[in-house]
Amino acid sequence: MAYSRIVGAVSISILGGFLVACAGPDGKEGPAGLAGPAGPQGPAGPEGPPGTTPFIDAGVDGATTNSCAQPCHGFGNVVDQWKFSGHYKISAMADDNPTWTGAASCGNCHALDGIERRVAGVVTVADGGVASGVANGHLNFQTATGGAAEAVYAGLGKNAIIHCSTCHAFTPTNDPHVTGKYEPGSAPLRVASGPDDQSLIEKSPADAGVVGQPAGKYKAGNTCVFCHKSRRDVTAFITPANRMSSTRWGPHQGPQADIYSGKGAYHFPGQSYGTSVHTTLANGCVGCHMTPVASNKNVPDHSMIASIAACKTCHTTYTGTSYDIQSGQSTVRAGLFELQAALNARGLLTRSSAAPFVAMSETELRDGAFQLDQPRPQSGVGPDGGVADQVLSATDAGALYNYLLLARGRDFGVHNPTYTKQLLWDSIRQIKGTTPTFMSARASS
Ligand code: HEC
Ligand code: HEC
Ligand code: HEC
Ligand code: HEC
Ligand code: HEC
Repeated sequence: MAYSRIVGAVSISILGGFLVACAGPDGKEGPAGLAGPAGPQGPAGPEGPPGTTPFIDAGVDGATTNSCAQPCHGFGNVVDQWKFSGHYKISAMADDNPTWTGAASCGNCHALDGIERRVAGVVTVADGGVASGVANGHLNFQTATGGAAEAVYAGLGKNAIIHCSTCHAFTPTNDPHVTGKYEPGSAPLRVASGPDDQSLIEKSPADAGVVGQPAGKYKAGNTCVFCHKSRRDVTAFITPANRMSSTRWGPHQGPQADIYSGKGAYHFPGQSYGTSVHTTLANGCVGCHMTPVASNKNVPDHSMIASIAACKTCHTTYTGTSYDIQSGQSTVRAGLFELQAALNARGLLTRSSAAPFVAMSETELRDGAFQLDQPRPQSGVGPDGGVADQVLSATDAGALYNYLLLARGRDFGVHNPTYTKQLLWDSIRQIKGTTPTFMSARASS
């Protein structure tokens, strides 16, 4: 129960164990009373109302409840939640790649102001190309020579961090540190999140140039699509003859939107692909990863940890405590093991960081850390001694691309269960040339 009292000009408030005390300004003196015609001066007018005191939780009496603690700085609230998420990890880029702020695309997703610049259309485009859809999150563009290239981050950020202001448009008129108060809606998103707004993934329709593709109407989840997708356009990636010249071939880490949307993978000719009720959640990604926290004014959880309680709103009979509902993740994990073994047997996977690139070992094939696997640029003659770059057909390259996409999503099918199982089925059959064993038949849409 919130409790507060006024002692002279000092207001003391106790809310949920927090004690905040500070001096508010004195109330204004009221106007002087009218002077009598000849007699003594009349009494002073009544005291004016007390001034409002920033960040004091007035608590009872329905007064505004402003405090630094809620929803942000209290123990376990938004700032702490965010610090538990990967978005707070500040040094990844600086440690892994000190030159990332050069003429590269990295800052578009990793820098503090990456989204702000993209929404404003401020990126560098090389080769005379025209960047299309930058304000909707698209990053690739058509070069003058007809190829595809990435828009380059043009800001000054030197460290990788996804901070509050990366996603939220705080200005002097709504920033609580300036205004002295928090009101719901003080943290508007930078990325358009209206009912019909869509962010783009890097998969253009064939023969339409490098224009991207709307992912879906995910409202607040449109923000996530800006970064959690393949960096490069898969349509430009997969060509009739694909030379594996680098372990970096394929989708970048975290291509979750490509799977969730059911649009971003390589689709085998003649096959149809289903989608999931999961994609109908009102705020897309946010519906599972940022559920409202009742004890914190229902502000969404910024730890980004998917909520089992959210699953149970639909999976009402599920009583387990893992995400492996109806053994869906187990099935997908089995499919990933099967596809991984098949690709490795074909000499297409490695964990080597430099040449000579060797096939994965039995130990590596057992650890289940699929997201660590990379394409193997060279195999050729002998067990591991070859030097020639691999050249893959479109369908083989597509199967490899799909494996990397699913492995790097790290959701084991939750984002789009049917789509995931269909991609695994088609990709395994492509690489093995026989019927897959992880399921008895291809999942029907
Ligand atoms: C500006 C780019 C960007 C945006 C926007 C973004 N993310 Fe991330 N996200 C990242 C990066 C980068 C990482 C990995 C950080 C690391 O591991 O160093 C990450 C990590 C994560 C993780 C991995 C678990 C963790 O916390 O380490 C989850 C889950 C996640 N993000 C969910 C989301 C959701 C949901 C949204 C939309 C509300 C979102 N992200 C928006 C860039 C972004
Ligand atoms: C990766 C993107 C991302 C980051 C980083 C992020 N938020 Fe949010 N935040 C969101 C999304 C998405 C919502 C949900 C908005 C909705 O549902 O309309 C949200 C909602 C909120 C809300 C409630 C909505 C409102 O306008 O009052 C507050 C407050 C908030 N965030 C504060 C913060 C603070 C403070 C930080 C830094 C510690 C932060 N956020 C970091 C994405 C982010
Ligand atoms: C389209 C947005 C995007 C671009 C552009 C991008 N990244 Fe990332 N990157 C991400 C996301 C999202 C993650 C986190 C994925 C996850 O946790 O699932 C990530 C993760 C990483 C990680 C792993 C971080 C960790 O702690 O595990 C490294 C390293 C990385 N990126 C380097 C780069 C470099 C170098 C570039 C530029 C050449 C780059 N990224 C460009 C979105 C992007
Ligand atoms: C139906 C609920 C649901 C939706 C919607 C959803 N996710 Fe997830 N997500 C999960 C679950 C469950 C996991 C698996 C977590 C695990 O097994 O540890 C996961 C895993 C992830 C991971 C890897 C986290 C880690 O720690 O390894 C990232 C990043 C992520 N999701 C981002 C997104 C993005 C971006 C979207 C929207 C494009 C999205 N998710 C939509 C439930 C969801
Ligand atoms: C909006 C309702 C809804 C929510 C919320 C939801 N699910 Fe689902 N889920 C479904 C439906 C319906 C299916 C059936 C197949 C489909 O539509 O993809 C399903 C299928 C699945 C499957 C595949 C099961 C199989 O047989 O292979 C898994 C795994 C799963 N959900 C996990 C989760 C997890 C984990 C969460 C929470 C993080 C969650 N779901 C949240 C409605 C929901």
